[in-house]
Amino acid sequence: MVSSLPHPVSQSVAAKLTRAAIFLVVTINPGTTSEEMVRGLCADLSSLLRGVGFRDLDGQLTCVMGFGSEAWDRLFGPPRPKDLHPFREIRGVHTAVSTPGDILFHIRAATMDLCFELATHIMSRLNGAVSTVDEVHGFKFFDDRDLIGFVDGTENPVGQAAEAATLVGDEDSAFAGGSYVIVQKYLHDVARWNKVPVEEQENIIGRHKLSDIEQPDSVKKPYAHNVLTSIEENGEQLQILRDNMLFGEVGKGEFGTYFIGYARSPHRIEKMLENMFIGNPPGTYDHLLDFSHTLTGCLFFVPTVTFLDDVNP
Ligand code: HEM
Repeated sequence: MVSSLPHPVSQSVAAKLTRAAIFLVVTINPGTTSEEMVRGLCADLSSLLRGVGFRDLDGQLTCVMGFGSEAWDRLFGPPRPKDLHPFREIRGVHTAVSTPGDILFHIRAATMDLCFELATHIMSRLNGAVSTVDEVHGFKFFDDRDLIGFVDGTENPVGQAAEAATLVGDEDSAFAGGSYVIVQKYLHDVARWNKVPVEEQENIIGRHKLSDIEQPDSVKKPYAHNVLTSIEENGEQLQILRDNMLFGEVGKGEFGTYFIGYARSPHRIEKMLENMFIGNPPGTYDHLLDFSHTLTGCLFFVPTVTFLDDVNP
């Protein structure tokens, strides 16, 4: 029998990568009024997005709204997405910290003005209901390189493969079309990294710096970033979708990468993180972490637009 239920519409998780983004992580203030205001925004987000996005048709404005584990219970109650839990700190050779965060807004556009305008509207709607714990205005660098000088994003899945990697399917049918997202704010010791010979930097990433071509498997080091983040289950590669951005404050000497990874299950991102921070086998960790450390770490569930549109304050 063909189901007559309409297909839920996903948020723009697998949107095309853009040159600008704002990452806003907020906590919900105590009180039922705060919760009502947040729920009110859920239902109005599509309309805000249309209003701002229509002002620049080439602007590619999108916004993904995700919810942390405790916030989900506070705002929506049961049922809850089956794999939603707070981000778990990982202590290995290096530490992936876990920090507070109830809601994530991942706002992307071709230009920062669109991101900024939408973020302003969202925050004025939530005035008094939330406290900002982290706000990062990110941008893409020359050639889509990150601050360590490597092209970032090359091996991302695209099109249908991106959707298959990121959208929940029958494994949790009540939340099909949703997604999980992990964010981490990294700071780099760029001065020290730049003293590392390029050949060793290439061993750490597992790709050639100038050409962005992958090293042959026979040459790759076991601690290479792309070795430790390539994971398989039953012979099949488990992919995630990343849209990392640079940020920084030159005067402070602060240079960073905002990592964002979407997946249909948080386990695959957590497995990559364990490989990076603890090592696989333990001890064979990601040497990029000798030059980069995390300031934040949060996990959110991204429900469908259909779910958000139906939320009652
Ligand atoms: C690949 C940079 C953190 C997962 C890459 C590449 C670069 C890079 C330059 C190679 C090009 C590409 O395919 O995109 C960084 C930086 C990070 C960071 C600067 C933060 C300091 C992470 C984290 C994860 C991750 C935290 C996952 C938890 C991946 C994956 C690939 C990749 C899955 C593709 C591997 C492959 O299939 O070849 N990253 N990354 N990265 N990264 Fe990261």
